[in-house]
Amino acid sequence: MADGSSETKSSNQMWGGRFASGPDAIMEEINASIGFDKKLYAQDIRGSIAHATMLAHQGIISAEDKDKIVHGLNTILSEIESGAFEFSRRLEDIHMNVEARLATLIGPAAGRLHTARSRNDQVALDFRLWVKEELQKTEKALTALIAAFLDRAEEHADTVMPGFTHLQTAQPVTFGHHCMAYVEMFGRDRSRVRHAIEHMDESPIGAAALAGTGFPIDRHMTAKALGFREPTRNSIDTVSDRDFALEFLSIASIAATHLSRLAEEIVIWSTPQFGFIRLSDAFSTGSSIMPQKKNPDAAELVRAKTGRINGSLIALLTVMKGLPLAYSKDMQEDKEQVFDAAESLELAIAAMTGMVRDMTVRADRMKAAAGSGYSTATDLADWLVREAGLPFRDAHHVTGRAVALAEQKGCDLADLSLADLQSINPAITEKVFDVLTVEASVASRTSFGGTAPAEVRKQIAWWRARN
Ligand code: ARG
Repeated sequence: MADGSSETKSSNQMWGGRFASGPDAIMEEINASIGFDKKLYAQDIRGSIAHATMLAHQGIISAEDKDKIVHGLNTILSEIESGAFEFSRRLEDIHMNVEARLATLIGPAAGRLHTARSRNDQVALDFRLWVKEELQKTEKALTALIAAFLDRAEEHADTVMPGFTHLQTAQPVTFGHHCMAYVEMFGRDRSRVRHAIEHMDESPIGAAALAGTGFPIDRHMTAKALGFREPTRNSIDTVSDRDFALEFLSIASIAATHLSRLAEEIVIWSTPQFGFIRLSDAFSTGSSIMPQKKNPDAAELVRAKTGRINGSLIALLTVMKGLPLAYSKDMQEDKEQVFDAAESLELAIAAMTGMVRDMTVRADRMKAAAGSGYSTATDLADWLVREAGLPFRDAHHVTGRAVALAEQKGCDLADLSLADLQSINPAITEKVFDVLTVEASVASRTSFGGTAPAEVRKQIAWWRARN
């Protein structure tokens, strides 16, 4: 294979018959994708082996040529893996780099490999295989993250903390319940991943340039050999479709949004003001000037990665939105977005899994905060409905007055005397104090999906059976 540096501006060997001179340097730079699509080498070679095997099976090429091709492709695979392969930008992309090297290795038989296919279906195949494998990795990574949350939820099924709306204390919940909210979120991400794998489980190879081919190929055979459920059904759609990449990016964006919300909570929880968790040294850094500081850098970076992942989705949607059918070179811009988003997402999930496993939960701080901010006010209102027969709206009003009184006295609801409470509503009895503690509040919320420890343990068991 020619060394990139010694290449001269010569006519391109693939379509030299039509074009007399080689590409201008700028043209080469804008046109070449080898800088990033070399990542697809394994998929490209696997696809070519399946294609050549099918061509021989169908009698389109001879068995001897097929053997030479397969042997040559395997040689190229080891050359790339050992670092010996020299990629050439003049050869534009991974497909032509591999094919040119094959010609050097096995001679004219190499020229038979491209029978009944085009780079249009070839790139659709390679990229789809890559995305499918990436989604399989994402599924595993999400499973590990869910497992980390399930362990923390189990450990803290009884740990009370304030639940928030508007980031204002709302009602007491348990930290286990809060962890299980993330299990639901990442569980939905994982089921989106599984659905997407199913959607894209169709083999593009054999669609050729866009119209199919007159050669008697067997697309079911290549589909099976490459691990797809079946071949795609419309050759025009096949070479112009990048839904599989868009689906990957959409799923990645939603998952990254979940990771970012978690990152934000970790940032807030680890402030000295909240103090709900202590980050391990492994996932934080110190300050070069302020010795007391411990910064949640990993969480902050996860939060920021969401920006680039969402950006990739918008970038590819924008590339695709105006394209007429079928293939246009614009579509070459699909890969870097997906590669970058995939790398960011993998890293973000791994970092979060580590942080969730490593953080120290400060149950004492959570409990103290859970009791402040009149978090059991709803429990008082509910008690008035249940025990004193008040309509909820009236109970809400009475409770509001109790909160105002506590505020005036500078104490919590549970610290008001019975006489104080009875001055607001005489129907209140000593028994009300049973519901004003955070533990009682949490234990009472036994509705399906509620925060009661017993209920949270049921949710954990449900997920354990499915993780
Ligand atoms: N490098 C190209 C891409 O990534 C491969 C397909 C090129 N097809 C073509 N007709 N020029 O999209």
